[in-house]
Amino acid sequence: MSVPILTVDGPSGSGKGTLSRIVAHHAGWHLLDSGALYRLVGLAGRKRGLGEDDIEGHARLAVAMDVRFGVGQEAELVLLDGQDVTDAIRTEEAGRDASRVAAWPPVRASLLERQRAFAQPPGLVADGRDMGTVVFPEAALKVFLTASAQVRALRRYNQLKEKGSGASLSALSREIAERDARDSTRAVAPLVPARDAEVIDSTGLSIGEVAACVIELGRQRGLWT
Ligand code: DC
Repeated sequence: MSVPILTVDGPSGSGKGTLSRIVAHHAGWHLLDSGALYRLVGLAGRKRGLGEDDIEGHARLAVAMDVRFGVGQEAELVLLDGQDVTDAIRTEEAGRDASRVAAWPPVRASLLERQRAFAQPPGLVADGRDMGTVVFPEAALKVFLTASAQVRALRRYNQLKEKGSGASLSALSREIAERDARDSTRAVAPLVPARDAEVIDSTGLSIGEVAACVIELGRQRGLWT
């Protein structure tokens, strides 16, 4: 029997991560944070001293790296080769590295099986850029979440401030625009909504409102009660 899958795709700062966590919790389903896998490939490459243009080396790491996702005392825990890298993969530099390695077809191909292995009963919420278009084209429900670039930069700014890291709003806006452009125009698996995706613009909505909307869509499709 096939495992039901909800895909949540969209640009940085659209609220995909939070939405995916809320819905996975509501449904009691597994969660795949595919962006974390690209971040881990970038970080693993740095730790091994790979060149910034070593595509094949990064593709091999994508298959070989030992990754564990777990839950720590309060929040998520990500281990790379046994080391806690939960915070290290969330820096702006790690985001830039992730976006660079994510543009390379051999790296994307190497991560396919790893991502598909997350589809386990009773179901999976898969968060990323190409979950509905490439990795899980057969998903029962596909959501594409957007928000204006201005609102996304502001959300990221507030997130960083909460964590105590300083950031400039204008630098973040520039960074987000550059990353959007790179992620949307790359040749392989660009950031576009699947033809059968439900597109939700979260610009004027709270995360609770977006979650309620997606939970209702899933209920209408018989994914949960
Ligand atoms: O969602 P995130 O910021 O953690 O993703 C980091 C980078 O990885 C982002 O620049 C786009 C890339 N990515 C991707 O190409 N495909 C995915 N399924 C997820 C992330």
